[in-house]
Amino acid sequence: MAGLKVAVLISGRGSNLQSLIDAQANPAYPAEIVNVISNVPDAPGLVRAARAGIPTRVIDHRNFDGREAFEAAVNEALAEAGVELICLAGFMRILTRGFVEKWRNRLINIHPSLLPAFKGLHTHERAIEAGVKFAGCTVHYVRPEMDEGPIIIQAAVPVAPNDTPEVLAARVLNMEHRIYPFAVRLIAEGKARVNGERVEIDGAYVPEGTITNPSE
Ligand code: GRF
Repeated sequence: MAGLKVAVLISGRGSNLQSLIDAQANPAYPAEIVNVISNVPDAPGLVRAARAGIPTRVIDHRNFDGREAFEAAVNEALAEAGVELICLAGFMRILTRGFVEKWRNRLINIHPSLLPAFKGLHTHERAIEAGVKFAGCTVHYVRPEMDEGPIIIQAAVPVAPNDTPEVLAARVLNMEHRIYPFAVRLIAEGKARVNGERVEIDGAYVPEGTITNPSE
C-alpha cells in the first residue's frame, strides 16, 4: 500500500469507510488510508478501521469549547499523519468555513442524493415524498455551505413504486460503495481537476444509453 495519504472522518456505521478499506486491499489502488478520525467514541466504523490495522483517533467534540477548538485538534491529527486528502464518510459535524477553506479541493464528501436535489438529512424519505423517479448519490468537493461543491461523480438508481426509505437507502448505499472508492482513485491518479466550480475528469468514460422509469 502506498499513494495518496487519506484520512476518513466518521461518526457512525462506517460502511463507506469499509468500501475504501476494501478498495485499498488491491495493491494497485493509488491511495492509502493513514488515519480514521471519529468524533463519536463508540462509532462502529472505528472497529472496521482497527480490524484493517488502520490507526484511529477519537476526537470527541464534546470535550472542546467550540468548533474551532475541536477542528484545531482534528487538524493536528491530520498533520501528524501527513494527510493529503480528507474523505467525510457519515461525519455528522458541520465544519467551519475556516476548516473547509484550509482544505479547499482536498476535502470530499459523499451524500445520498443527486445533488443539488435533497441537501441535508432524510434524503430518501424526501425523495419518495417528492415522487421523483430516480434517486442516487454524489461525491463532491466540500464548500462551506452544506452539501454544496463541485461534483466529482454521481450514480443514479430508480425509485420503485413501493419503496420505503429503508429499501431505497439500501439501493443507493450499494452505489455509494462503488462511487466513493472510484472518486478517490480518480483524485489519487490526478485525473480530477476543479475548474471554476466544476470538476473535469481526464479520460472520463460517459456511459452510453439512457433509461426511463418506468421503462417504455
Ligand atoms: C451515507 O449514506 C452517506 O452518504 C451519508 O451518511 C451515510 C453514512 O453511512 N453522508 P456509513 O457510516 O458510511 O455507513
